[in-house]
Amino acid sequence: MDAKRSIADLLLDWYDRHRRTLPWRALPGVAADPYRVWLSEVMLQQTTVATVRPRFEAWVARWPGVESLAAADEAEVMAAWAGLGYYARARNLVRAARAIVAEHGGALPDTEAALRGLPGLGDYTAAAVAAIAFGRRAVVVDANVERVVSRLFRAAGKPAVRAAAEAITPEARAGDFAQGMMDLGSAICSPRRPKCLLCPLADACAAHAAGEEEAFPVKPAKAARPTRFGTMFWLERGLPGAREVFLVRRPPRGLLGGMRALPTGPWEASPPGLAGAPVAAEWRLLKHGVVHGFTHFTLDAALAVARWDAHSAPAEGEWWPVEKLAAAGLPTVFAKAAAAIGRVG
Ligand code: ADE
Ligand code: SF4
Repeated sequence: MDAKRSIADLLLDWYDRHRRTLPWRALPGVAADPYRVWLSEVMLQQTTVATVRPRFEAWVARWPGVESLAAADEAEVMAAWAGLGYYARARNLVRAARAIVAEHGGALPDTEAALRGLPGLGDYTAAAVAAIAFGRRAVVVDANVERVVSRLFRAAGKPAVRAAAEAITPEARAGDFAQGMMDLGSAICSPRRPKCLLCPLADACAAHAAGEEEAFPVKPAKAARPTRFGTMFWLERGLPGAREVFLVRRPPRGLLGGMRALPTGPWEASPPGLAGAPVAAEWRLLKHGVVHGFTHFTLDAALAVARWDAHSAPAEGEWWPVEKLAAAGLPTVFAKAAAAIGRVG
């Protein structure tokens, strides 16, 4: 039997029996809703299934389709994304929804190439949507698929893994094949201690035959992540029970662009102290700050607190009730700061 057919057949057979029920998946034999597939693939890019599931449900309850998302207020969409990270994804969802309405009559285009023309749809998302929502043959390689395929063929490096995935992707049911690989990677072919005894592909797996499962995927050497230092400013007014904190909106370009935030000073190679404070006030630097990992650097942020004395008006921003801070849609790094300040009072 040729290897291509047998791996796909074995996997699809396994998927038919063990597929996860997920809110963006159609029932077997039913066409999936392309909007839900697209949204889920974007959410799942840097975020786990467990985290995405409730956020996905809340999102589609609020914006059930392309038209409603296209008509949404971008700031509200950004706030609804809070905590999921990589906020450009949310901004691009709105932009793409508007492009789908303006240029495609409100329906997602159904080919990989046309999907790739939409804002934020890179190779991965375009392939995933084409395969899962439209039944196109497309090669879908996420971290789970990469792990399974690299082990099956002892393939080292992304190009080799991609070529192998290309070779085993079937003509029919490419979407089920991709999701089957994802489910297998999640449930069976886990990063540590894969459950090879339960694996439908064990007889075809080179890493398993060699007893080298955990040696794959081969990780490229990681560049050290630099640390940058900054200060976040907590400016407060009002009496206990009616306290308000001063929030700003970050500039549209750059890290956390367009998100509501605590004011910050510059982010530098050494702690900038009170430079960049939003107003002159009796700032007090707290002993402990917040450390947060971004993709390309770690931010070590000090926290400065002050009461607003009504002499100097802060620049553009808004006073937000501290009790309702959870509804402000703050990115995680600022939510951490607020929590830290909540603890010290
Ligand atoms: N991760 C990314 N896309 C997924 C999907 N469609 N199902 C399960 N996990 C995924
Ligand atoms: Fe992964 Fe083991 Fe299956 Fe190979 S046999 S694909 S290592 S679970």
